[in-house]
Amino acid sequence: MPELTINGKKHSFKPGQTILQAALDQGVEVPHYCYHPGLSVVANCRICLGEVWAPNPKSGKLEAFPKLVPTCQQAASEGMVVYTDSPKAVANQKSVMEFLLINHPVDCPVCDQAGECHLQDYSYQYGRGESRFTEAKNKQPKKDIGPNVLLYSDRCIMCTRCVRFTREVTGTNELMVDGRGSTEQIDIFPGMALNNELSGNVVDLCPVGALLDKDFLFQQRVWFLKKTASIDGITASGDNISVEHNDGKVYRIKPRANEAVNKWWITDEVRYGWKFVHSDARLAMPSIKGKPAFDPLMPMEAWRESYAAVDAAMKSLASSKKNLALLVSPMLSCEDAYNLARYALSVDPDAMLAVGPVPFSGEDKTFPGGFTIRAEKAPNARGVRRVLEALAGGKPVANAQGFESALASGKYGAAIVTGNYPSDWVTPALVKALGSVGTVVAIDTLPNAVTAMASVVLPGAAWIEKAGSFENATGRLQGFEQAITPVEYAKSESQIALDLAGFRASKHAVGYCASTTRAEMAKVAGLDCMANALHAPEQAETVESDMQMVEL
Ligand code: SF4
Ligand code: FES
Repeated sequence: MPELTINGKKHSFKPGQTILQAALDQGVEVPHYCYHPGLSVVANCRICLGEVWAPNPKSGKLEAFPKLVPTCQQAASEGMVVYTDSPKAVANQKSVMEFLLINHPVDCPVCDQAGECHLQDYSYQYGRGESRFTEAKNKQPKKDIGPNVLLYSDRCIMCTRCVRFTREVTGTNELMVDGRGSTEQIDIFPGMALNNELSGNVVDLCPVGALLDKDFLFQQRVWFLKKTASIDGITASGDNISVEHNDGKVYRIKPRANEAVNKWWITDEVRYGWKFVHSDARLAMPSIKGKPAFDPLMPMEAWRESYAAVDAAMKSLASSKKNLALLVSPMLSCEDAYNLARYALSVDPDAMLAVGPVPFSGEDKTFPGGFTIRAEKAPNARGVRRVLEALAGGKPVANAQGFESALASGKYGAAIVTGNYPSDWVTPALVKALGSVGTVVAIDTLPNAVTAMASVVLPGAAWIEKAGSFENATGRLQGFEQAITPVEYAKSESQIALDLAGFRASKHAVGYCASTTRAEMAKVAGLDCMANALHAPEQAETVESDMQMVEL
């Protein structure tokens, strides 16, 4: 690998990289605003400038570039010597900061970006303690530029990342630079709105607090947020996301960069699609049909009685010479599918295993920048099928239609049905088919026609509330971490399956652990991918906030 020297230390770089890319790859901090790895290079903010020497190709002697060089634009070359911490480079950084802050309102105390703002960080590192600008600042308007995004123009530093995003990634061109000099500002073209399916990404891109997420506005100071590595749980994209939460409540979802999957972006559908997790309608306590609701102060009792009811129904299957049917939702993780199917097969080795309905909406859509929105609106149809088929000894398993028609045969005395969809998913055909089954156990997150007719309802956990793995539309298997604890008394489907297995064997239930389950799964023929093909998040642990909330 070729090498260059940055601030006195030698670093290797990949051919074709710029100095800034090489520096960032090696963990060398160089301030930058307009550079973004997913966008073209414009070199307009000028804060990344460095002093550069390169060997003369003829003499081999080091020769200085005559002026400071934008490190985001200058290609790195063998033997190059770069200083971004020399007096000349630092003087430039300080000048750029002073210039950027001339018209900036410095309203950090009320700005959503405070705590994760590059302008704030660099101001702390390179800025002056006080402003020398005594004239009146230019005032710029606040603008409502789309259904999800607000623009506070006077905080903008004109890096043009947002404009380039709409030109290069979405190809929708809603944003532009209007005007010149100190009055230039970002704007939308007349008659347009920033309403493309990826619009929320401009908020992440903006290095300052100029572009703001309406949904997150004034909801939480970012230093209170904990970040947990997760995977899109509502579509088949497998987009890498970070769930940001505090005190058991999710506040926002942001993309995690992964060049192999979602690059640096997520859709607005994924960004805002988690709201059902905190829906007031969430199922939070087990219930048994025909019995009064359980006392909310006695959740253990409620679960025990519900498990007993399920267990009695499962035990009666043998005497009635009927079979068990299990419908595993594609919204569940591979681990959930494994634990549920193992339990079903322990009750009835001939149990029917089936994959729940897989919702689709429109067609896949690929943007000019290469990002694809998936029409398939379930995160793990392939993973669930893979697990169920492996446990069925390699035989194909039924889909939702096959499940419904099999129930009509009258062979089945009990059915366990799982949902966990963000909206109503039950079809009249499923309700009709389940009507011919003696006992229906529904494990779901939101009420629907199946939970209304079920003999026992057990509240499940949304994907954010548990750890597991999903296989996306391209067959990539990715692990995710638990971000928050399940709402009230809900439990992960894996835990419910392990509890039921423990109840059946009159043993203490095993606590669900994703990695233990994966190690067990990897021993099953056809599931060795759980050991050798699982992509675990690089940032596996939850990032804790560094400040505690103090009640006043
Ligand atoms: S709004 Fe943000 S991303 Fe757009 S140019 Fe201004 S600072 Fe850059
Ligand atoms: S990051 Fe290099 S000029 Fe802006």
